[in-house]
Amino acid sequence: MTVSDSDRPHSQPARYEDVFRGYRTQLGGLTVDTSRLRVDPKAPTRPEPRSARRYAQDVNAGETQRVPWIVGVSGASGTPYAAAVLRALLDVGESVDLVVSRASRLTLLDETGISFRDAHWRDDLAEWLARGADGKPVAFEGGLARVRYWSAGDLAAGPSSGSYPTKGMLIVPASTAAVAGVALGLSKDLLQRAAGVTLKERRPLVVAVRETPLNGQTLRHLVTLDDLGAVVVPASPAFYAGATHIQDLVDFVAGRVLDAAGVGHRLYRRWEGDLGGASARDANE
Ligand SMILES: Cc1cc2nc3c(=O)[nH]c(=O)nc-3n(C[C@H](O)[C@H](O)[C@H](O)COP(=O)(O)O)c2cc1C
Repeated sequence: MTVSDSDRPHSQPARYEDVFRGYRTQLGGLTVDTSRLRVDPKAPTRPEPRSARRYAQDVNAGETQRVPWIVGVSGASGTPYAAAVLRALLDVGESVDLVVSRASRLTLLDETGISFRDAHWRDDLAEWLARGADGKPVAFEGGLARVRYWSAGDLAAGPSSGSYPTKGMLIVPASTAAVAGVALGLSKDLLQRAAGVTLKERRPLVVAVRETPLNGQTLRHLVTLDDLGAVVVPASPAFYAGATHIQDLVDFVAGRVLDAAGVGHRLYRRWEGDLGGASARDANE
């Protein structure tokens, strides 16, 4: 019997033994007699990720207080992904706590021409969200009043404490430096600290990593984040949803980030099981 990748043990040896008790099997070219596998009661088990929707309900139960999503923008290329996620969250009435890393000001300047300033963040954010990935105006219904901005150097900010209520955190885009910092628990700025807090509080953390190619170091950090319960969503657009424009590709990635967080949206067309469905639908429109 050959064990496929999806059958391999993750960090749940008990389940592995239950399923494969007594088989001789091939693992990476080695023959393994699984009847000799033993459960280590001290083996780490993966924390059960809490569904974002369920968590939001728990947090909101009987409360009227503001419970935001934290959006951390780090210095990877891909500021249009962050803009699309922010617009979509605000469009569905969510509140947002925004953290923009120092390095991401460079990518924002490079990709949009906008200088993001702490003292004028509301104006700069409004200008950023009003533009699509091609720099042209996009439909945006507003909701900036539901954004609270925290400076990346402000380690006394609300999201740096687990007692500050949030629904979870989306890091979009996530640099390899941010991935490393969160995986290692460095907390070198508010973005990394807030992500660490999100993990320790067992709240949803979505990490939209953007880098290519990926070295082994980053891959190991991503596995660590996955083990800790984060959802890693590579910023890799798909083409089955009938994209005709750069913004469609951006919205696909943003939509997958929101899917991972359990936030509703209409950013892309979902797969419906029909090959060629996207082009057929386009022809009918
Ligand atoms: C224009 C530009 C594009 C960059 N693109 C990426 C990228 O796609 N992925 C990445 O991991 N780092 C990228 N970097 C490097 C990060 O900005 C750098 O590693 C930084 O230390 C990240 O810090 P932060 O995680 O605190 O934002 C880019 C830098 C610049 C100036």
